[in-house]
Amino acid sequence: MRLLFLGDIVGRSGRTAVCEALPKLISRHSLDFVIINGENSAGGFGITEAILNDLIDAGADCVTLGNHAFDQKDTLVYIDRHDRLIRPLNFPRGTPGKGATLLKAKNGADVLVINAMGRVFMTELDCPFRAIDNEITACSLKMGADVIFVDFHAEATSEKQALGLFLDGRVSGVVGTHTHTPTSDHRVLPSGTAYMSDAGMCGDYNSVLGMESDEPINRFLTKIPRGRYEPSSGQGTLSGFAVEIDDKTGLATHCAALRQGPHLEPAMRSFWRDAAQS
Ligand SMILES: [Fe+2]
Repeated sequence: MRLLFLGDIVGRSGRTAVCEALPKLISRHSLDFVIINGENSAGGFGITEAILNDLIDAGADCVTLGNHAFDQKDTLVYIDRHDRLIRPLNFPRGTPGKGATLLKAKNGADVLVINAMGRVFMTELDCPFRAIDNEITACSLKMGADVIFVDFHAEATSEKQALGLFLDGRVSGVVGTHTHTPTSDHRVLPSGTAYMSDAGMCGDYNSVLGMESDEPINRFLTKIPRGRYEPSSGQGTLSGFAVEIDDKTGLATHCAALRQGPHLEPAMRSFWRDAAQS
């Protein structure tokens, strides 16, 4: 099956880019399942129910969150109405919503999506390694689910790499989110789990993490807030992770980074080809 993960949507630029491009990507590549991190989609902070519905209408099968999960207070109420919206699994017991969901893909596969948050340079939460381990013990690959995909919302690359190798061979894919900067380390790990340290963001890359640069630069220079962080309004670029998964084993066979839009440079191979032609 073909699974596409899109990195953190930041503001209107990211939403517009995703809602315009996703239906075409789904039909052009015959995608079976699409996951999007939506925690920054509402003005950079959280997600509203209307935006969630727009993303589902555009083709998202599941929307994941992170440290900004409840920045829009309504989310505390509506999250329990939606099977396709999940927040980090290792939030404190009693937090509204859930951290994992089992959904049907277009090809009929049962896909378990898990969202968890890292703890290095982030808020102290329950151990994400043990929380995910408990989840996939209860619903394991090929016993409870045909495909298992993990969005690990974390700051430190070391923690993401450790989780990828901890889960290698037991889940179909592990992708990092939160840094808003795509990494170039996407690969299939030795025992068959597709891995990418960070999927990057869907938004305006001429910015600081998707936000207009004036206020971040001011705060680095003076340490005195002068205004709010506002999402950058230039044209959005899509960044994500595409994974081909073997239907029999539920493990990955190939993976690739998706970069589509006006900002991110192409891969080295086309760079040299273009340079040779000029
Ligand atoms: Fe985040």
